[in-house]
Amino acid sequence: MSPSVHEIAAGIYRISTFLPDVGPGGFTMNQYLVDADEPMLFHLGPRRMFPAVAAAVARIVPVERLRWLSFGHVESDECGSMNAWLDAAPDATVAFNELGCQVSLDDLADRAPRRTSAEDVHDLGGHRMRTVQTPHVPHGWEAQVLFDETTSTLFCGDLFTRLGDAPAIVHDDDPIGPALVAEDVFGATAVTAATGPTIRRLADLQPRTLALMHGPAFAGDCVAALHGLADAYEARFTAGHAVRA
Ligand SMILES: [Fe+2]
Ligand SMILES: [Fe+2]
Repeated sequence: MSPSVHEIAAGIYRISTFLPDVGPGGFTMNQYLVDADEPMLFHLGPRRMFPAVAAAVARIVPVERLRWLSFGHVESDECGSMNAWLDAAPDATVAFNELGCQVSLDDLADRAPRRTSAEDVHDLGGHRMRTVQTPHVPHGWEAQVLFDETTSTLFCGDLFTRLGDAPAIVHDDDPIGPALVAEDVFGATAVTAATGPTIRRLADLQPRTLALMHGPAFAGDCVAALHGLADAYEARFTAGHAVRA
């Protein structure tokens, strides 16, 4: 269960563990290390995976140099190991939106988190990270994604989640079909009237790379992929209404 490490954009490393027993065909669990003057880890992994993920991080930067910890929403795969990282990296701080801090992280984190907002682009020194709140997309009231303005990488979390193993990065794969297969298996997305418009707002950022939490990074036409995913959820939302009407 040793993670693989690949640089998927300049200074952005995908740390990926394949879990063969999760879901049909197995499942990948990714973290992303942003190698900046103030290094950030996005997605922290569950508590049980901390030793393996920490060893993978240490291949790129010493764990005690980590300065920022962030993730998409409050779930064990996103942040179960949060306090282990805070313990291992004395200068590290959790960075998260105000709502997530108020609702969960002020209480759960062993050190006070830093509030982030869309207006306050977080300059890590070499990478400029924008926080975009995406309430309930794909799930979680406090949900957020990060956008690295420097490399145009969108850390899109559970969006486009797919089953099975895959290369670290793909360029011309279809990201939507496999995501809908996984959606049918897991039912992980809160499909509401806001789902499509929220995903379309992410397309407005014009990302060049999508850094998936569960799947390969995608470096194809990211804008089209996001609109395609929004189309698919809007179709499902409309169909659901038609069934219930
Ligand atoms: Fe999640
Ligand atoms: Fe996840």
